[in-house]
Parts: sequence; structure tokens; C-alpha cells
Amino acid sequence: MTAEPVTTGTGVPPRPGYDARLDPDLLARLRADAAAITARYPDPRSGLLPMLHLVQSVDGYVSRDGVLFCAEQLGLTPAEVSAVATFYTQYKRHPNGTYTVGVCTNTLCAVMGGDAIFDELSEHLGVGHDETTEDGAITLERVECNAACDYAPVVMVNWEFFDNQTPETATALADDLRAGRPVAPTRGAASVCTFKQMSRVLAGFPDGRADEGGVAGEPTLAGLRVARERGWTAPQPETAHEAPAAGGTTTGEPEAGEPGSSAEREPATPSDTTESPHPGDPGRGKGEAR
Ligand code: FES
Repeated sequence: MTAEPVTTGTGVPPRPGYDARLDPDLLARLRADAAAITARYPDPRSGLLPMLHLVQSVDGYVSRDGVLFCAEQLGLTPAEVSAVATFYTQYKRHPNGTYTVGVCTNTLCAVMGGDAIFDELSEHLGVGHDETTEDGAITLERVECNAACDYAPVVMVNWEFFDNQTPETATALADDLRAGRPVAPTRGAASVCTFKQMSRVLAGFPDGRADEGGVAGEPTLAGLRVARERGWTAPQPETAHEAPAAGGTTTGEPEAGEPGSSAEREPATPSDTTESPHPGDPGRGKGEAR
């Protein structure tokens, strides 16, 4: 989209933003990526969330230049962009570490050891919530529920899962990250990328790892198994127009939990079939990392 110069409304000439500090090739790629984002939506302003991730992939946080760039590309004011960027915790307003280590301290993880993990990591790394280690490797965060409670307590590194953690495994994980040693999540993708790389993925530019992992694990399926053993089923719709076809939904797809549903899809990638025992188990798969 054609960008109009961003004005501050104060009579002060606008800062040149990225034009003054990014090399021309990078700036051209950034503008091409921004155009690809706005093309996804009928109204360009709908692309603000991925656009904020895009500028984070350049600066490692939503910088002032990044705010101006988003405003320029989407026809918004800098104040409108800042209002969104300051609302969501995934957007960082100061330089982030290479890895965000997020410890879930929401209710279930907290009682299962999340608070102890956070305290241990905080002391080990010498930083508190939303602070970054001096070497720039790790930003430590308390995070809210990641919908992974069946694997509590959960630690995430750049939003990849490290399940069933302990203070010991979490500090060893942090040490590996700071030393540049490869680490492998306990499910999902087989590796962890940098915060900038993850930000680009979240902007909607896949890195090819999305299909790694993905099969529901035993803790997630435990309730389904018990329901089948006891013959429990979901309540049926009461009205005729809501009634699904026998053995499926109104679209003919199997209900969640039924044979053939997504929870039981066949393994599709090598990492689907890779063993990923709990941390500390002998013979832990995926490169033996925590
Ligand atoms: S409480 Fe930690 S993932 Fe839900």
C-alpha cells in the first residue's frame, strides 16, 4: 500500500524511522512482507497484529520505529498502533532476549511447582519477571495458562512446550540456552528458534516446522479413554435441526474424541513418532535435551 508520511500532530517533523537505519535491501524485504500481510485482509488495518510481530522480527521488540512503520503501512495513527501493542503481552516494548523463557504460574501449574520453578530460575539467572539476562540470551516471564495444564508444570521457550518441569530441569534448560546448546521441546516442533524467528512465524511466514509433532499425548487423551471405558457420551442436541447425522457432526465429520477425529490422526512426520519421555527419564529422545 502507498504510505503517507506519519505526522505527530504537534508540528514536529516526523522521525525518519526505518528509512534512516535499515539497509535498503532489508527495508525492501520488510515492505514486501508488509504488503503480503495487508493483502490477506479486506481492510489493511486488520493486519495490525501480524504486522507487529513482523517488526518484532526485525528489532526483537516493538520499537518506536516499528510503531511508525505499522502506522504508515496500515493507515493508522501511531497512537492506535501503540494502544494495541501495549495491550498484548506477546508484544515487547523493550529489547527482548534471544529466548523468552515463560514459566506458567497460573493455578494448576503453580500448585504443581510453577512458583518454585520461577523462583529458582529468577535466582539462578539474576533477573525478575520481564527482565533479560546481561548476555541478552533469556527474558524471564511469568505466563498465564497455556492450555497445557495436563502437562503441568509447563515452561515455554519462545512458545514451544517443555512439559512436566522441575526447578532442576528448568535451570538446566536455561543453562543450555545461554550456552547455545540445542534444546528440544517435549512435544510439537523438534527444535526451538530465536525470538526474532518466532516473531516472523507469528507474522504468518511459516518456517516449515508447523507439522512437526502434533499427536495428542497420553495425559491429554486420558479423559477420552475413561469415557470410552465407562460408556460416557456427550449430551445429544435437543432440536431436530441441530441433530447431527449418526456417528458424526452436522457436517459429517466425526465428533471430537470419536474414532477418526483429529485426536487420532495417523502420525505424519518423523517427530510424530519420536519418543519424548518426561524430563529426567533415561534415554530421553530428541537429542537428549531438556
Ligand atoms: S495452568 Fe499452566 S498450562 Fe494451564
